[in-house]
Amino acid sequence: EAIEKGGYDHFMLKEIYEQPRSIADCMRGRLDASSGRLVVGGLRDYMNKFQNAQRIIITACGTSWHAGLVAEYLFEEFARIPVEVEYASEFRYRNPVLNENDFVIAISQSGETADTLAAIELAKSKGATIFGVCNVVGSSIARATHAGSYTHAGPEIGVASTKAFTAQISVLTLMALKLGYQRGMIAETRYMELLHELETIPGKVERALQLNEQLIKIAEIYKDARNFLYLGRGYNFPVALEGALKLKEISYIHAEGYPAAEMKHGPIALIDEEMPVVFIATKDSSYEKVVSNIQEVKARKGKIIAVVTEGDTTVKNMADHVIEVPSTEEAFVPLISVVPLQLLSYHIAVMRGCNVDQPRNLAKSVTVE
Ligand code: G6P
Repeated sequence: EAIEKGGYDHFMLKEIYEQPRSIADCMRGRLDASSGRLVVGGLRDYMNKFQNAQRIIITACGTSWHAGLVAEYLFEEFARIPVEVEYASEFRYRNPVLNENDFVIAISQSGETADTLAAIELAKSKGATIFGVCNVVGSSIARATHAGSYTHAGPEIGVASTKAFTAQISVLTLMALKLGYQRGMIAETRYMELLHELETIPGKVERALQLNEQLIKIAEIYKDARNFLYLGRGYNFPVALEGALKLKEISYIHAEGYPAAEMKHGPIALIDEEMPVVFIATKDSSYEKVVSNIQEVKARKGKIIAVVTEGDTTVKNMADHVIEVPSTEEAFVPLISVVPLQLLSYHIAVMRGCNVDQPRNLAKSVTVE
């Protein structure tokens, strides 16, 4: 097992560190910015259906559902097709309104999640086209769907999903760009710009991993906290959810992710000097709004840990800790901003003596209801 961990203490840490490579593997053969080539093999026979879909419905569970939420922003921004993101367990029992003009995307690392599989069968019975985004080749979901694309992240052993999440987002990003371009929603020059930027992501994730030492120090300070709040807006809202999920899964600290502006409708009541609040506050279209949310937390003496874009000075003056990540296109930020949150959870869990790779009560894949 030590050999399989490749010198890392846990599979989770190894998998976090594999991300520059797994993201690159996921894009290999699909993206070549210099020639403007973007091919999502699995889509070939279904491009027509995809392009003309009235609606895209994404269904998944857990971390894969968070990747689906990122995709909602991506598809709506780039392709201008309405998207709904559904927990498979709710969707399957709701008698949803569905027809043959709906394009359903099922996301699953294992390809074996019972609820997701049942949601697929239901959507199929209503005539929708189902596309799978799975990591495990030949899995039940990969076989049950009409078509699909693998994430090629390699085996993920740690129960808390890390590299599968960023690989899912990578595939969904490629799909959104392809779809947007085919539908004439992205101008040629902008499209090329986006493709070039996407190719730089593995290198930027590599740089985000260099924040590890800093995250160990932050983990030391907050490892005994009883609660954590994670806040973000726009593309970073799903990242806030994922950051909170990672922490609760492996460290057993209660954590909630929220859209930063919703804080005032509830979570703000919890804020005092005991409450660490993680803001994902990268320089994007909602930056100014997030800055005022940070001020609101500061006024209530919450402890602020902020993930910001390199060179940010505004948040630095307000936060207790800033974690600087490389800048990128707004739509690609989750691939980078989630990395320090994964590391923070990992170190807190290790310091608390938790079984990081096999947290209590959780399973890598949930094959029963
Ligand atoms: C379990 C795992 C999670 C995962 C979820 C969905 O809860 O512990 O890490 O996100 O199932 O699994 P899937 O294989 O469908 O992505």
